[in-house]
Amino acid sequence: MKKRTIRDLAPAEIKGRRALVRVDFNVPLDGTRITDDTRIRAAIPTLRSLISGGARVVLLSHLGRPKAKPEAKYSLAPVAARLGELLGKPVAFCPETDTDAALAATKALADGDVLLLENTRFLPGEEKNDPALSKSFARLGDFYVNDAFGTAHRAHASTAGVAAFLHPAVAGLLMDAELNWLGATLEKPKRPFIAILGGAKISGKIDVIEQLLPKVDGLLIGGAMACTFYRAMGLETGKSLVEEDRVAMAKDLLARGGMRLTLPHDATVAPSLERAGEAKAVPRNAIPKDQAMFDIGPQSAASYSRAIASAKTIIWNGPMGVFETPPFDAGTRAVAEAMANATGKGATTIVGGGDSAAAVAEAGLENKMSHVSTGGGASLEFLEGKKLPGVEILDEAD
Ligand code: 3PG
Repeated sequence: MKKRTIRDLAPAEIKGRRALVRVDFNVPLDGTRITDDTRIRAAIPTLRSLISGGARVVLLSHLGRPKAKPEAKYSLAPVAARLGELLGKPVAFCPETDTDAALAATKALADGDVLLLENTRFLPGEEKNDPALSKSFARLGDFYVNDAFGTAHRAHASTAGVAAFLHPAVAGLLMDAELNWLGATLEKPKRPFIAILGGAKISGKIDVIEQLLPKVDGLLIGGAMACTFYRAMGLETGKSLVEEDRVAMAKDLLARGGMRLTLPHDATVAPSLERAGEAKAVPRNAIPKDQAMFDIGPQSAASYSRAIASAKTIIWNGPMGVFETPPFDAGTRAVAEAMANATGKGATTIVGGGDSAAAVAEAGLENKMSHVSTGGGASLEFLEGKKLPGVEILDEAD
């Protein structure tokens, strides 16, 4: 069901009114330095639209995983400063979240002003989705906007509960874009449609494999989870990570997937991650007993790249290897580059967030994909076909 967005609001519903906007400013920090501001940038279109409509913008976000009480290292103060730079206007910061002082700060705003409140996870009621806190949050705005796709899989007071007490409750432009890209890809993909799934564990990806398998023309597997499939195929996996309790499941998926399910034909192995200098490529049926697979091999990288080049829709979630440790980044890079080339030739390319988004950003290719999701866990749950609480609670479009 399509959700109402800020585009569906009448000018009078915006001008002079306090927009309580849940954003996902959960950005990586080194001390107080923001090391990746992608998520702040991603919220800018919604914020600019509200500002130009004359709203008084009140922002709520979490940062990190504080234990339901204030912790200085998780303060959003550095984010307010960066947001001000990106918007080209001052962003007020209130070191409190749902107190009378915070309420007074929202009431002191003029049209077009922006105020960021302190980390919602400093409050014990946030992750419990406490109705009392949701009600208290609702006082801070005259309407609610959820633009925090990255946190939409959490049923927390600021992402879901608050919408029971505050309407209109609509999607922001980032939330809408994420749902459209991911949703349209699953519903009406241009074919051939292929999915590339990587990562360490099959257990974390099983639901998404189940969901995608009937829809795709090809599903290419990478990452250490390939080794659980190798074990199911009766191959030697050496010291590689294998989920013993998932081998039967992998066997069943191989049987059901048939020709649509592709495992890498070769592997880049080494005695350990620390001994990356000794890395070598071997066929998948020749993984030495004393070595582990840390990346797909060069032949697989080339054949996956060819598959990407011949597809019209490609969705990718999860790295092909330990991409933080060269040379085990080669498979992930090859996939990222092939996807960037495919975009240039008219294919739709979607990168599910988290590690694959980080790898694409590191390769400087984020602008060469149709869409890079800002959600890690959220995009995975969406692809698994699960309902996202932060989306469910929003008003339905007419
Ligand atoms: C994320 O980074 O995936 C989101 O901000 C959600 O964070 P969480 O996993 O701590 O809920």
